[in-house]
Amino acid sequence: MCSHLSRLVLIGLAALGLLLSACSGAAPPTASTVQTWYIDPVRFQRGAHAGLQCADCHTAISLGEMSAGHPNPDRVTQDAVATFDYTACRRCHPQEYDAYMHGVHAEVASGVRANQTDNPAPTCGHCHSPHYNPPNRTRAELIASQVATCGQCHGKATETYLQNYHGKAAANLGDTSSAACTDCHGAHTVVSLKSADKALEVCQTCHPDASVNMTGFLIHAQETVPAPAAPHAGESMLLFVTKVLLTILVVGVLGFFYAHTFIWFIRSAHNRMCGS
Ligand code: HEC
Ligand code: HEC
Ligand code: HEC
Ligand code: HEC
Ligand code: HEC
Ligand code: HEC
Repeated sequence: MCSHLSRLVLIGLAALGLLLSACSGAAPPTASTVQTWYIDPVRFQRGAHAGLQCADCHTAISLGEMSAGHPNPDRVTQDAVATFDYTACRRCHPQEYDAYMHGVHAEVASGVRANQTDNPAPTCGHCHSPHYNPPNRTRAELIASQVATCGQCHGKATETYLQNYHGKAAANLGDTSSAACTDCHGAHTVVSLKSADKALEVCQTCHPDASVNMTGFLIHAQETVPAPAAPHAGESMLLFVTKVLLTILVVGVLGFFYAHTFIWFIRSAHNRMCGS
């Protein structure tokens, strides 16, 4: 009877070990389909665009002569970010607009490049609030906003960045000399850094003595089984195997000693009750 009990305990512990494996994934953003048309004038006047006329951006609306299509009640159920014509931003922000147009996000948005993800390619409106964008943000605020903004669609890259030295220092400790997403990739051109030459150029802006070896340092270290063509596939595989082995080691050692203590306890309880 007594040995049955200890066997049951061991089986229980093994089941607990199995439960310890967990996985995580970022959900793609969902565009809300029902919009409110209310624009809060107080918040608007506190934003970067305070003082602008509504018609500066909503060029299809002029106060004197309402354009035929407006107001169209069907529009309120549409995603305003998807339907707005962002060429209106170019008039006052030609630099950012042109940089964006030369970038990968614009290529994917216009269909020049195929989208390999479930996320939409961002336009200005995915990253900036036109009505309420705060003015003159500090670098610390910009870093925090990037983790949220880029993180909507690049959940994995954001997670690995936050585990990296730069992310820990910049986003968690507020060290503004460390690197945020746009310091490496740029905000509007979003340069891919898969090639070591491109990465080196970027590293050297803050690490002037960096050599090409330094680009082997993983910024987005993945602890999962990589696709064969993924950058740093070998290193990711090594990290994955190490993680699995260490998990087995930790669970094994803890399991063994907890089981040991428990069986010991049962043994001494048995000794007391059975009187030997
Ligand atoms: C700096 C440019 C800009 C200015 C100025 C501006 N808007 Fe907009 N507005 C936009 C953009 C861009 C969108 C598309 C949705 C988005 O990006 O959030 C939009 C969307 C809207 C919508 C659709 C619902 C929504 O919230 O997305 C309404 C209504 C609206 N604007 C009203 C106004 C009014 C009223 C004013 C003046 C007080 C104004 N806008 C000033 C750029 C602007
Ligand atoms: C009529 C001119 C005008 C138009 C059109 C316009 N802006 Fe602006 N924008 C400004 C001015 C003025 C500022 C404040 C001064 C500055 O920081 O450059 C500003 C500031 C900004 C900022 C910087 C906020 C910060 O962090 O300091 C962003 C982002 C921005 N605008 C995005 C947009 C987007 C997106 C659109 C199109 C939907 C747009 N703007 C259309 C005039 C304009
Ligand atoms: C993928 C996200 C993203 C998209 C899309 C995007 N921006 Fe930005 N933008 C940023 C970030 C992040 C910053 C903050 C500056 C930085 O980190 O370099 C910024 C900064 C700006 C600024 C302020 C410039 C400065 O240096 O203070 C303006 C103006 C601006 N963007 C306009 C636009 C316009 C216009 C578009 C559309 C053509 C656009 N942005 C599209 C992310 C984006
Ligand atoms: C609304 C979704 C969305 C947001 C927000 C967004 N991205 Fe992207 N991004 C995409 C999509 C879609 C692609 C294309 C992916 C593909 O097809 O491989 C992409 C591609 C990229 C690439 C790869 C470029 C290449 O050549 O392969 C980089 C780097 C990138 N984004 C950085 C950023 C940064 C930095 C931010 C924040 C400032 C950001 N993205 C915000 C959707 C987004
Ligand atoms: C210190 C520089 C650095 C910072 C900061 C950084 N990255 Fe990267 N990123 C890289 C390098 C180098 C690569 C290419 C190698 C790789 O994929 O690991 C890369 C790869 C990527 C890719 C894969 C597509 C491609 O072709 O480059 C995406 C998407 C991406 N980063 C998004 C982000 C986002 C979002 C952030 C902020 C949350 C961020 N990165 C912060 C350096 C950086
Ligand atoms: C915007 C500036 C900036 C950029 C761009 C940048 N770094 Fe850094 N990095 C820092 C700062 C600041 C530190 C901490 C101080 C130091 O050691 O110099 C740091 C530290 C490091 C460290 C030491 C981390 C540790 O664990 O001790 C490595 C490795 C590193 N960076 C690699 C890179 C690589 C690789 C790139 C290019 C893909 C890069 N950095 C791009 C700012 C940057």
